Amino acid sequence: MASNRKLLVLPGDGIGVEVMRQVHRVVDWFDKRRTVSFDVKEGLVGGAAIDKHGWPIDDATMDVAMNSDATLFGAVGGPKWDGLPFEKKPERGLLRLRKDMDLFANLRPALVFDALADASSLKRELVSGLDILILRELTGGVYFGEPRGVSTLPDGQKKAVDTQVYTTSEIQRIARVAFELARKRGNKVHSVEKSNVMHTGVLWREVVTATHKAEFADVKLEHMLADNCNMQLVRNPKQFDVIVTDNLFGDMLSDCAAMLTGSLGMLPSASLGAPDATGRRKALYEPVHGSAPDIAGKDMANPMATLLSFAMMLRYSFDLPADADLVEQAAKNVLAKGIRTRDIAMPGETPVSTTQMGDALLAELDKLAA
Ligand code: IPM
Ligand code: MG
Repeated sequence: MASNRKLLVLPGDGIGVEVMRQVHRVVDWFDKRRTVSFDVKEGLVGGAAIDKHGWPIDDATMDVAMNSDATLFGAVGGPKWDGLPFEKKPERGLLRLRKDMDLFANLRPALVFDALADASSLKRELVSGLDILILRELTGGVYFGEPRGVSTLPDGQKKAVDTQVYTTSEIQRIARVAFELARKRGNKVHSVEKSNVMHTGVLWREVVTATHKAEFADVKLEHMLADNCNMQLVRNPKQFDVIVTDNLFGDMLSDCAAMLTGSLGMLPSASLGAPDATGRRKALYEPVHGSAPDIAGKDMANPMATLLSFAMMLRYSFDLPADADLVEQAAKNVLAKGIRTRDIAMPGETPVSTTQMGDALLAELDKLAA
């Protein structure tokens, strides 16, 4: 049956390939069991694309991404491509997708599943029940600011430059997303920058404050410096609901938040653009973890972050909250049964493989849908 849900799958490199295989199984399951079907295309990104075309993503694949309702992304990079010049690195494929699709809002929820509270490096009481959302600005800041590059000075030494830039409208649009999301959650936003040192931080604080006052005064707003936020995340993470921050701070704070949940292998993310005239947002979903070359190809990786990214896709791109709930509940049940990949296994437990984790999830889906 033809489906109007156009989905592009980009497994990428390393464990991206094997975790995405489990997503395909879930897509098939939905096709057969729930009459929710997708028109799935697959493409190359990162090192896999470099090997084939010489570039980390080609124009044809970019075209498909632009015309899809959602893109599911695995991971990119690996030692094989480490020596490439900057503009040809695997990571540029991901950065081009984010920039060309204008995916400025990156949602990184850090949720502690009850069964995993002991897998965190923090004490159970600090993290159990934790549910925070890091909202990272994704298309601005030092990741894309000009000028950037490396030059050679007259005395022969080199000089490298990256530029942190933010405009009022860039800050305003991410702030609005933060307040809107907070209204549906705990109604509290922490806006995070370095206004004590950086001009972009001063502007960030000004614009967030003004947007709050004009449009979202019902939401609780606090400002926090990024270094303090980093410390507060490990000191008392439950004080947070939504954290909104720039591209670089968001990159760093989300890895830290990820670890609170026990493993980077558990964290999904959604990157969304602005709604168009029909209300549709361009969207890319990806696990927060990378390509993990050390365990790639060994059927050891945790597929949960990618499966949960798929659930976020059902929720945000396809307005299928019941189906998203189903996948998330199945994931919870699997973990509650003590089925764990190596990254979240407790001492003495025998870890399962990537495929076995997929098997367990499908079995739970069957049960829940019976
Ligand atoms: C992330 C990653 C990326 C980033 C890399 C792979 C370019 O660390 O999504 O957090 O720095 O944004
Ligand atoms: Mg990162």
